Amino acid sequence: MFEFKIVTLFPEIFSPFENASLIGKAVEKKILKFTYINLRDYSHDKHRSVDDTPYGGGAGMVIKPAPVFEMLEDVKDSYKVFLTPGGKPYTQSDAARLASLDKPLLLFCGRYEGLDERAVEEFDEQISIGDFVLNGGEVAAMAVVESVSRLLDGVIGNMDSVTEESFSSGLLEYPQYSRPEIFNGKKVPEILLSGNHKLIKEWRKGRSLLKTRKVRPDLFDKYEMSDLEKKLFEKAQKEEKDGTA
Ligand code: ADE
Repeated sequence: MFEFKIVTLFPEIFSPFENASLIGKAVEKKILKFTYINLRDYSHDKHRSVDDTPYGGGAGMVIKPAPVFEMLEDVKDSYKVFLTPGGKPYTQSDAARLASLDKPLLLFCGRYEGLDERAVEEFDEQISIGDFVLNGGEVAAMAVVESVSRLLDGVIGNMDSVTEESFSSGLLEYPQYSRPEIFNGKKVPEILLSGNHKLIKEWRKGRSLLKTRKVRPDLFDKYEMSDLEKKLFEKAQKEEKDGTA
């Protein structure tokens, strides 16, 4: 069983998320377990406050170190992640790494303007889910939970869909089509109707390369194409130019 320990001031945000869809089923099957920790339980003043004004001035409030240190005493068995826009950008390979942990994954959701740096230093890792600012780490924690969970055995029905999808190969996924064959005057690419699996696989690789180059040139530049892939990419480029894609 893989355990997520979520530190949040708003555990109620997670309730529908934990109960719905594939995550809900995985909890039922005891593949996943969620434990919630409320930082306020580690605050000892009469208002149960966990924040204070920042030294040096400035807007907003900062989470104080004391309740965090006290909470961390109770979760010494866990790998501790602090979710913050100041963290390292999260990628699929981080998800794979976290999914192979052999201990609980603690996700600390910040609120307010930040967390006292002395507490930040106690975490094993800081993660950002993108270059934008959320009100708190809860939505970011859900992104981490979902991306890690779907890599665990038994969470997703068909593991092929995990290995074929975007990023697992370093490229974006090829375009997909389903019925009907013609929709709004647009036809499904002929090759996909051919039943020729080798040609379909090659077509998909070409489209995957083409899409990655267009949408994510940073990923494309990092990807090392084989000789065959170079040919498939050029073919896809030509077909697109000629309008025969
Ligand atoms: N908390 C607020 N914004 C965040 C972000 N972009 N990633 C992770 N945690 C956050």
